[in-house]
Amino acid sequence: MVLVSIFPLLIILDIVLGQQKKADSILVNPQVSTGNDKEPPMALYAKAYSYMIRSKAFKNYTMEDSISFINQLYHWKAPQELQEKFPYYHAGYDQYDRPVWIGEAGKFDLPGQIRKGPETAHNVTQYLFQAVLRMGESLQAKDTPTKEVREIFGILDWEGFQFTQSLHIPTVNFALNLLHTYHDFLDLGLGHAVMINMNQVTKGLFERIQPALGDSFQKIEFFKSDKAEWMAALQKLLPSNAIPPWYGGSSDFK
Ligand SMILES: *[C@@H]1O[C@H](CO)[C@@H](O)[C@H](O)[C@H]1NC(C)=O
Ligand SMILES: *[C@@H]1O[C@H](CO)[C@@H](O)[C@H](O)[C@H]1NC(C)=O
Repeated sequence: MVLVSIFPLLIILDIVLGQQKKADSILVNPQVSTGNDKEPPMALYAKAYSYMIRSKAFKNYTMEDSISFINQLYHWKAPQELQEKFPYYHAGYDQYDRPVWIGEAGKFDLPGQIRKGPETAHNVTQYLFQAVLRMGESLQAKDTPTKEVREIFGILDWEGFQFTQSLHIPTVNFALNLLHTYHDFLDLGLGHAVMINMNQVTKGLFERIQPALGDSFQKIEFFKSDKAEWMAALQKLLPSNAIPPWYGGSSDFK
């Protein structure tokens, strides 16, 4: 059903992009077009747009708005510091062709960034959007003319999470605001999530934000730091080449 809506979009895109070539240099902020040099694949625009129009935050975007939004995100070169402090990566695919994405959430020092001011907070948001776009690209890579993949499999590792992070009020407000504004992306794009190395504090955080997560909360499994327990769970849910060896996966993990 969803698939049907994608192909007319591709045709419209052809028209819009054809007209848009001249305007491109104005729409794309030249200061941020130093990231990925190649252009996003055409199908990625259609794929991303199909999510955006279903979300609260982007539902009034025209095709052209979303193309320029996607272009600037795609080409944005995130500051080195964010890349180091907010590690995440694509680990492979599960048996339903859902891309597996891993975030080392326990290492994310959000207060450290938020304290630096609104411009840095803006970059953190941009960094998050870019991560979401990359997830979209990994979904789109598995689409075929007869099958569309629309959900990801997420793993968040909370090892090392500093309890004091949850006490910094501007950070808490920033995170809650993000969640309120964009949580429908979770409803649209999250297939399953596994939280590992949770402690009382991180578990408590999730219990507090449960109402804001809505139905997505049902898709999340929580594990404490019992390594044997969550490794066994991951092995049941995922092929071993989609699990990094340091999480109990196989050595043919790429
Ligand atoms: C969408 O609507 C909001 C107000 O509801 C407005 O602030 C925003 O600029 C609009 N965005 C686009 C891309 O038209
Ligand atoms: C935000 O990111 C841009 C692009 O990497 C960078 O040039 C700018 O210095 C960053 N701003 C802050 C406040 O870190």
